Amino acid sequence: MKGLILSGGKGTRLRPLTFTQAKQLIPVANKPVLFYAVEDLLAVGIEDIGVVISPETGGEVQEALRGHGFPGVRFTFILQEKPLGLAHAVKVARPFLGEDPFVMYLGDNLLSGGLGEAMEAYRRQAPDGLILLASVENPQAFGVAVLDGAGRVRRLVEKPSHPPSSLALVGVYILPPEIHGVIEGLHPSPRGEYEITEAIQGLIDSGLRIEALQVRGWWKDTGKPEDLLEANRLVLSRLTGKIEGEVRESQLAGEVVVEKGAKVVRSRIRGPVHIAAGAVVEDSYVGPYTSIGREAVVRRSEVEYSILLDRAKVEDLPHLLDASILGREAVVVGKGEGPRRFTAGMVLGDRSQVRV
Ligand code: TTP
Repeated sequence: MKGLILSGGKGTRLRPLTFTQAKQLIPVANKPVLFYAVEDLLAVGIEDIGVVISPETGGEVQEALRGHGFPGVRFTFILQEKPLGLAHAVKVARPFLGEDPFVMYLGDNLLSGGLGEAMEAYRRQAPDGLILLASVENPQAFGVAVLDGAGRVRRLVEKPSHPPSSLALVGVYILPPEIHGVIEGLHPSPRGEYEITEAIQGLIDSGLRIEALQVRGWWKDTGKPEDLLEANRLVLSRLTGKIEGEVRESQLAGEVVVEKGAKVVRSRIRGPVHIAAGAVVEDSYVGPYTSIGREAVVRRSEVEYSILLDRAKVEDLPHLLDASILGREAVVVGKGEGPRRFTAGMVLGDRSQVRV
């Protein structure tokens, strides 16, 4: 079976970070989101992987995947000129996919349990296709499924204003080759996209058997800043501490990773925290669920529940930086004095500078 990872799209909800970077390359626990999808596919033996890319970010996505060197994987990069929807991405990938069933994985999604259970259910039940579902509190924001008494998919609706169920489609699908014929006959939806929900509905309407599996554990779509922070929290919750860098005159508690070449001096770290190679934390407090990127710097400051991308810098902040995402080489500098308050929810693009 082949894998298809969707790594194009616009990423508008993650601006300004996505003005200068593919959203699928934004790190969660200091690893690009996209790599988790590749690892999940590899873990179930899928090594022939197509990656749908956009003209804007395709180059950096290729470079990141090739540069990382996933042993055994054959990547085929497929250019989608315009982000016309998930079904359109499948359409442009048709020459790669051929006449085989395939696993489609949205490149900004994370699944705690991986693909093992889904592949097992697919093999055992031998349906035509299988979709993954998760119960959510705001089904209006998702593709939503209605099942029959036997757990088979009856109907799919995209972002319904009156959701018929709370079961949202997770961004992972096992699809049969018949999907290509259905997609040929699709028209753009009112929001101008070729919808995968409509394509799967077409399969059901033509009598194919599409089974559903509710995911155990968590599933996260990292499309918005708050989701990215939550994904970071969830992945860091599974962190196992490892100190390979230099730690001096500091107190560490909980699971903390300090990679080789990173330095923690006169600081308090409350895990789970991931500090990447070359980063420096000095005279600071770093609280739970924080990732500090490669060569990033935190000096005389307090940071919690945040993501600092590579070479970001926080210095002399008079108060706690909370629930924030700082892009590559972004700088937040304070005067080191002032009222004790929080800065929460700051999202800074690459190379931005802020004085507080
Ligand atoms: P979305 O998050 O639905 O779309 P988007 O990336 O355009 O984001 P936004 O709504 O914030 O502008 O896409 C889910 C995944 O599928 C994501 O990894 C991007 C990818 N994708 C494509 O590869 N091609 C497409 O045409 C679309 C719509 C998405």
